[in-house]
Amino acid sequence: MILVTGGCGFIGSAFVLEWLQGGHGPVVNLDLLTYAGHPGNLAAVAKDPNYHFVHGDIGNAALVAQLLATHRPRAIINFAAESHVDRSISGPMAFAQTNVVGTLSLLDATLAYWRTLPAPEQALFRFLHVSTDEVFGSLSAQAPAFTEQHRFEPNSPYSASKAASDHFVRSFQHTYGLPTLTTHCSNNYGPRQFPEKLIPLIIHNALRGKPLPVYGDGQQIRDWLFVNDHCSAIRAVLTGGQPGETYNVGGRSERANLDVVNTICRTLDELRPRAGGTPHAALITHVADRPGHDRRYAIDDSKIATQLGWQPAVGFDEGMRQTIQWYLDNAAWVESVTSGSYRQWVDQQYQGLAQPA
Ligand code: NAD
Ligand code: TYD
Repeated sequence: MILVTGGCGFIGSAFVLEWLQGGHGPVVNLDLLTYAGHPGNLAAVAKDPNYHFVHGDIGNAALVAQLLATHRPRAIINFAAESHVDRSISGPMAFAQTNVVGTLSLLDATLAYWRTLPAPEQALFRFLHVSTDEVFGSLSAQAPAFTEQHRFEPNSPYSASKAASDHFVRSFQHTYGLPTLTTHCSNNYGPRQFPEKLIPLIIHNALRGKPLPVYGDGQQIRDWLFVNDHCSAIRAVLTGGQPGETYNVGGRSERANLDVVNTICRTLDELRPRAGGTPHAALITHVADRPGHDRRYAIDDSKIATQLGWQPAVGFDEGMRQTIQWYLDNAAWVESVTSGSYRQWVDQQYQGLAQPA
């Protein structure tokens, strides 16, 4: 039995689906079902006797204590978070509440549970915290990629809240001996990503003939990893990672945002041409830059590659094509997640963005 938090979100749901389909054992999924959590993401396993859903907050200490005592997991994988940088800029408090206070509360309840385990089970137990490369801050164009030793320089309220939670995880290993693991992963993409993030937002708007908002000059660089490769990295760290260690995870695919947007446009021109044959790229619209926008992220993955033998399996072009095809094939999913509160967010975030003529 493992406990996954935030399993109804983008990465957590991919992880739970693979975990169950791979026969790795039973999963309890604790999820608050915020705007980003969709039980439909796990419809394929909803009736699986090895899948157990619990609706609740990682910050609810009594609920978590009861869950741990009942299910006695051998590991906890903490995906639950507020995860969108732009939302952290317009409303940072929710990020402190879930990412910092919620993670600390989860750690505290985990420690109390872990202390009740017999010594051999204590030694095997793992708390795996899913973090981000954004805690390392921004790189210049020529700077070497982030290693695990790179100092923390979080620049957004989102990355600051993730950095704070990473520090609490580290402190619980150092102070109490709780066997923790932390991963710092680059930008994920793939099926079931909520269309507030760059790639699904661009696909969503392009299919509706709406403007494709590119912040600033569009030359900001991200490293992109297909979501199932992130899941395989988490499994590798869970199995072979050394307690107290951190592992960087990346896709070996640095791309400027404008290049990513153009790739989506070209692929859609081929798979779903616009009426009249106008290229989707005609919809690209440069908008005001994000405040404090990090210029470049890049991951040095040599630690996880050499120590755990992990490497990404899906290249960027192949992963993007699969992703775009998934959104074309799953219009009903997109409809179901882009109702009321999504529209409010888009109106607030992209206000004044003109509709195309
Ligand atoms: P997401 O926003 O898609 O999903 C977050 C999930 O957590 C949702 O199901 C939501 O309902 C749930 N949740 C939120 N607050 C909760 C709470 N208080 N208690 C319980 N559940 C709660 O996020 P994602 O993109 O799947 O990211 C998952 C994790 O991976 C996050 O910790 C994020 O920081 C990290 N990460 C994401 C990326 C990326 O590119 N998306 C990259 C690196 C790391
Ligand atoms: P995002 O998907 O929000 O991930 P993150 O900010 O965590 O890296 O954004 C990826 C990049 O795309 C980032 O540089 C911001 C940029 N971006 C746009 O240019 N336009 C948009 O509408 C969005 C949502 C993001």
